[in-house]
Amino acid sequence: MGAVSSGRVSRVTGPLVEVEQAGSAAMFDVVALGTAGLPGEVVAIRDGILTVQAYEYTGGLKPADSAVSLGEPLSARLGPGLLGGVFDGLLRPLDGAPAWLRPGVARDGAGAASWQFVPQAQRGQRVVAGEAVGTVAGPGPVAYRILVPPGIAGTVEQIAAAGEYAADATVATVDGAAVPLTTRWPVRVPRPYRERVAADAPLHTGQRALDLLFPIAKGSTAAVPGGFGTGKTMLLQQIAKWSDADVIVYIGCGERGNEMAEVVADLFALADPRTGGRLADRTVIIANTSNMPMMAREASVHTGTTVAEYFRDMGYDVVVIADSTSRWAEALREFASRSGALPAEEGFPADLASAIAAFYERAGAVVTLGGARGSVTVVGAVSPPGGDLTEPVTAQTQRFVRCLWTLDRDLAYARHYPAVSWSGSFSRDAAALATYHARHGDPEWARRRAQVMAQLAEADRLAALAELVGVGTLPGNERVTMLTGRLLREGVLQQSGLSGTDASCDPAKGAALVDAVMVVSERCRKLVDAGVPATVVEEVDFGPLLRAREVAGEPAEVAKHRDALLDTLQELT
Ligand SMILES: Nc1ncnc2c1ncn2[C@@H]1O[C@H](COP(=O)(O)OP(=O)(O)OP(=O)(O)O)[C@@H](O)[C@H]1O
Ligand SMILES: [Mg+2]
Repeated sequence: MGAVSSGRVSRVTGPLVEVEQAGSAAMFDVVALGTAGLPGEVVAIRDGILTVQAYEYTGGLKPADSAVSLGEPLSARLGPGLLGGVFDGLLRPLDGAPAWLRPGVARDGAGAASWQFVPQAQRGQRVVAGEAVGTVAGPGPVAYRILVPPGIAGTVEQIAAAGEYAADATVATVDGAAVPLTTRWPVRVPRPYRERVAADAPLHTGQRALDLLFPIAKGSTAAVPGGFGTGKTMLLQQIAKWSDADVIVYIGCGERGNEMAEVVADLFALADPRTGGRLADRTVIIANTSNMPMMAREASVHTGTTVAEYFRDMGYDVVVIADSTSRWAEALREFASRSGALPAEEGFPADLASAIAAFYERAGAVVTLGGARGSVTVVGAVSPPGGDLTEPVTAQTQRFVRCLWTLDRDLAYARHYPAVSWSGSFSRDAAALATYHARHGDPEWARRRAQVMAQLAEADRLAALAELVGVGTLPGNERVTMLTGRLLREGVLQQSGLSGTDASCDPAKGAALVDAVMVVSERCRKLVDAGVPATVVEEVDFGPLLRAREVAGEPAEVAKHRDALLDTLQELT
């Protein structure tokens, strides 16, 4: 930690504050501004003048006000109390619903309560950094593992007995070094791990369009670009609710406050399908909505990934969700323009690409310092203005993510939700995950995926052709292909986020739905080949098949719907 030094405010323009005579203040030090002590961060130093990015509303701040550099970088307080909590961009608790912050009120993260510590390590035991000395129960199934901090290893000299301890108590000493219940970590510095490992196990999102076609691995990255109202927030919320991660960090970044309040309310009301507890109990919410000070948005994504890494280091699979990274980039742009930085494309700062890369690069599957496996998966929404996917934030983001889930405006208009485009999306994890599925009881996974992709592409091509030449001129088997495309779209890929049974889909049911459509499609093709007119086949009521996705869980239930339809088709012969 550096030295505390104080200077004076010389200029204030919105969130940009200039400070002179600040002595030894260094780049990225936290500065407390004015009598209210508004937090800010040093982002440039030139000719003895500090440029400070203030994280709160600077109304009332004036030249000659004091500015105290705390001699340490912006850091997050990591400890029990995070799960089930709602915090601002600097990880200060927001009690209940998101609210306008009162400037300078020093509320710090992770609460002041005391926690029930259960020791694991013994006195005299040798431990390394990242190993757990004990646990604190969380509100749900996820326990906080209290780890030996990075850089410390040796013999456990003291270990606290089971009991209640204050949030900042020391619960063990290792060769003279303290192991605290709550630690701090500078948010812009990735937390260390032993090594990165291949991200080759799937994150089941419960969304068929993703799990079947554009799957993501635990420890990978995805971006969700989509125009206004195409369903980005809904898709991210579904992932927050239903993906099989241990911990979710949901960063509401410059989006509407009431939507954020809804997410919070939903998570608190919904049961976790895997554990029976509340979904909120495995979730950390960081809210920096559009009604809150802009610059804390910039910090919020780093705060969020730091929290995710904290849980990763305990050996958990964590998903970070950021809605929306475009609003975050806007904060970068606003600040860059105020500080007179030379603007690059569309006014964004020249380092936009590296800022986006820095965010996504903190994802990964790792072996932790303590030897456990953990992962951070990052999923970010991108809201391109006017739906223009060539704008800088979308274009740069595409370079750095492994999965792209593009939301298509036409699909959204047609109320095909989730509006994930099958032609405009990709997953660079698909090959690794095909291997995983082949080893874990679903050798058909890759074939099924290829088949669905091929049928959808062919159906799209024929639909475009039919628009030109009229559907009546297409031969029967091509009309069956178009029909198959429709059945796949409506019976498999569409998934209502609002339905009790359809909102989340497990892999077995997803596979059963695809296979049911393909069996029915094959039967239709045989009928047409045998001389039944395509129009007759098209007029069959496919309702039972299309409704199969609404049945609860069991693949056998899906098969019943399929068989009902096969019986109907039988009558056509
Ligand atoms: N999976 C879904 N199931 C049912 N309805 C959906 C789904 N996805 C989106 N919708 C509908 O679309 C509407 C808009 O979705 P959403 O708010 O997620 O869009 P958005 O892309 O986040 O919009 P914005 O650009 O304003 O942030 C929702 O209110 C809902 O009615
Ligand atoms: Mg939205």
